[in-house]
Amino acid sequence: MKKKTIGQYIVQDVWFLEAKKLGYRARSAFKLLEIQEQFDIIKPGMSVLDVASAPGSFLQVISKIIGPEGLAVGVDLQKIKSLGRPNVKLLQGDIFDAPKIAAFCESIGVKQFDLVTSDIAPNTTGMKGVDQYRSIELNIEILKFADPWLKMGGNIVLKVFVGEDIQELITPIKQRYTTLKRIKPRACRERSFEEYFVCLGKK
Ligand SMILES: C[S@@+](CC[C@H](N)C(=O)[O-])C[C@H]1O[C@@H](n2cnc3c(N)ncnc32)[C@H](O)[C@@H]1O
Repeated sequence: MKKKTIGQYIVQDVWFLEAKKLGYRARSAFKLLEIQEQFDIIKPGMSVLDVASAPGSFLQVISKIIGPEGLAVGVDLQKIKSLGRPNVKLLQGDIFDAPKIAAFCESIGVKQFDLVTSDIAPNTTGMKGVDQYRSIELNIEILKFADPWLKMGGNIVLKVFVGEDIQELITPIKQRYTTLKRIKPRACRERSFEEYFVCLGKK
């Protein structure tokens, strides 16, 4: 991938510049667009819960595809600036604050979602093994979180730092979903061990 450099420092890459050009809030938009291109998981009229949404580029992609009949709910610890789209509802809070999530969903009349997208990652330590293991633990918590919120047959997308213990995440995924597809979108940093797990067909 081409990178813009000043001296030895990489300042921006093509994804960052492309996101800016197209009005996306983050390069992550291209990751979800590639996942969508490959698996067609977002459809018009769907209800989607986007976990860890700030600054909101996944939501920009989702909101456009689900259209006026759909609903996207974005939750993040940080405040997400309004997208100015009526099909998007935003909540500032911790995804693991179950009463807060339940109260919010009740207030907007949502009982369950067709799709959950999660871009959550642990705070990285720089120690590869530690970061990978924390990512597994976090994603197991997201799977449990999603159990009551996802409709039967629904799908979930997880961001995963893949390492040697990955089977510890694959096992609970396979208990819950009929199919697991893995993808490393082009917009993921080349040297990162980040992948997205697309879990299809909640049992
Ligand atoms: C990589 S960013 C998400 C980018 C987003 N998908 C987008 O496309 O703009 C990760 C986000 O996870 C959020 N986050 C981390 N832990 C969280 C938690 N427990 N509950 C809600 N959000 C969390 C962070 O605040 C951060 O904004």
